[in-house]
Amino acid sequence: MQNTSLADQISAIQNEALAAFKAAKNSQELYDLKVKFLGKNGSFNAIMKEFGKAPASEKPKLGQLVNQAKTALESAYMTCETQLKSQEMSASIARESLDLTLPGTERTQGSLHPITLVIEEMVQILSRIGFSVRTGPLIESDRNNFEALNIPADHPSRDMQDTFYINPAYVLRTHTSPVQARTMESEKPPIRILAPGPVFRSDSDISHSPNFNQIEGLLVDEKVSMADLKGTISFFVKELFGTDTKVRFRPSFFPFTEPSAEVDCTCPICKGKGCRMCKSSGWIEIGGCGLIHPKVLSFCGIDAEKWQGYAFGFGIERIAIIKYGIDDIRLFSENDTRFLKQF
Ligand code: DAH
Repeated sequence: MQNTSLADQISAIQNEALAAFKAAKNSQELYDLKVKFLGKNGSFNAIMKEFGKAPASEKPKLGQLVNQAKTALESAYMTCETQLKSQEMSASIARESLDLTLPGTERTQGSLHPITLVIEEMVQILSRIGFSVRTGPLIESDRNNFEALNIPADHPSRDMQDTFYINPAYVLRTHTSPVQARTMESEKPPIRILAPGPVFRSDSDISHSPNFNQIEGLLVDEKVSMADLKGTISFFVKELFGTDTKVRFRPSFFPFTEPSAEVDCTCPICKGKGCRMCKSSGWIEIGGCGLIHPKVLSFCGIDAEKWQGYAFGFGIERIAIIKYGIDDIRLFSENDTRFLKQF
């Protein structure tokens, strides 16, 4: 009696499940029904727990019935699922159809900043003759920014008017030259490095910005002369502005070089004839240079009897201004995309 009733229950559940599957309105509902009937805690597993009460001889038959019912339901489930999913897919396609007449969302593409482009070009040119890049912190010790470069405490460049002091021992670096000191102290000669990057000075007018960029060059080797320096700078300037550019060196003074010179090149805009950019002189000043002062070598732990070297420092904005014919230094830091897009 009990057994018949178990068999009846199996087929009752099967019918109930089948009807429910067919009535399911969407694939989620269908899935929930599958769990309800065929899942671990579902109706079929519940009924199998009753099998214990059935006589041993009936058990195989009952097991077979349950398996048949489950297989039938699995296949019914799959049929219903395929049907519901395809309905759902068509509905979602209909719902999400594209209106190609609507305006799109514009994505603007960024580009490299002109200063970055000029730095990349300068590094690329000088890397061809063996220079590689080093960096240093923007907040620099007074010692590296001044002391190690033979800039004594009473030097005018230490004036509060020019230097942003963080505290008496630290400044925002006023030039890229402290990377010279850092490199000479941490590397052994021969040294051939470049240090491009931002520098800061408390100075602001149409042609001066409180933060601008420089590129420093440093070479330490045996038997280095002013001729090597002039050769390197001439090569660099001609690669940058064109082979017809002339370079001139004017005697100057920097505490960290001896002798020192200022570097001018013929104005690439008017080719030396005189224009607004070069203030009618035909020449443009682009930086300073010189042979490393023996005191600087010694400060940085290099034997000045054995090693010599040269250094140079160029203003990057100035070079970018000339290269791209820009007439206002402030454009570089205004972040106006109409300006930036042109490079
Ligand atoms: N540091 C100097 C400045 O900011 C530029 C400079 C001049 C760098 C001569 C050098 C150099 O390496 O040799 O005005």
